[in-house]
Amino acid sequence: MVTLRPAGPEDHAFVASASVLLGTDDPVLTPEKWRREFEAHTTIAEAAGTRVGYVFAQAMGDVGHLKHIVTMPQARRRGVARALMRAAASRLRDAGCAEWMLNVKVENSAAKALYESLGMGFSYASCVLRLEWSRALALPAAGLDAFEPKEGDDAALEEAFKLPDGLLRERRKLGRVLLAVSDPAPAGLAVFDPAFPGAFPFQARSLCVAGTLLRAIDETRRREDPFVNLVVERDARLIDALIEAGAEPRIRLEHWRGPLQALW
Ligand SMILES: CC(C)(COP(=O)(O)OP(=O)(O)OC[C@H]1O[C@@H](n2cnc3c(N)ncnc32)[C@H](O)[C@@H]1OP(=O)(O)O)[C@@H](O)C(=O)NCCC(=O)NCCS
Repeated sequence: MVTLRPAGPEDHAFVASASVLLGTDDPVLTPEKWRREFEAHTTIAEAAGTRVGYVFAQAMGDVGHLKHIVTMPQARRRGVARALMRAAASRLRDAGCAEWMLNVKVENSAAKALYESLGMGFSYASCVLRLEWSRALALPAAGLDAFEPKEGDDAALEEAFKLPDGLLRERRKLGRVLLAVSDPAPAGLAVFDPAFPGAFPFQARSLCVAGTLLRAIDETRRREDPFVNLVVERDARLIDALIEAGAEPRIRLEHWRGPLQALW
């Protein structure tokens, strides 16, 4: 029998260790990041008094972002994830979301079967790339300057790069470094988190614009990091160009989305 409850401060250690099962390149979840970004948006599943899984999902405008879902290995195939998805769907709907979306590894057939059974479907491909700084700074640069976009620039950037409304405002609140290139239309955008270390999203109309963004990121990064992670969405050309320039494709992802209204 699975019971669900909202997460609290005491769940940090469980989620920090369970999140490793996602197999991403994300750094270990710190108590600070837990408190700031996860706690209010996480639901914990328990069975017989033991934590067996969690879901971390957040509303952004009218779209729900399902960021993590994990069931501990010993509790799998017993409906824990389905129950967590149901709880997340109901929370997101209450927050006014009409749709939900997530990123899943191409090879994760278990998770994709779950999402498909909930009416979600493939939307576009993306890739997490790792680029050594020595190679990043050797890329050609556009004859344009990167700038820090202000709130008044957000709508145009979100539209140009097909990002959810409000994403940039939310990332700014979390202390991310936002960098953009215009020519004068939006040509590049990076949302950099020095702790990742990396940019998600990282979008550029050309390899030169990518080079300009990377030089701007270089000014704010931790000097001890030898590489930067770049999450490039729906742009196979940029992914291929970065790989050609020496980036290592670490994780191939699929973006899935689906309606929330019809569920349950
Ligand atoms: C994906 C994951 C969350 C599923 O958790 P779970 O609690 O075992 O899932 P459920 O028992 O609720 O299963 C729900 C549905 O998911 C699908 N599913 C789950 N595991 C599956 C598997 N190994 N193979 C095929 N389908 C699977 C099925 O459609 C299942 O429905 P069914 O049992 O009626 O056939 C779990 O395997 C996990 O934590 N994996 C590691 C972390 C991860 O990959 N998270 C997803 C990130 S996008």
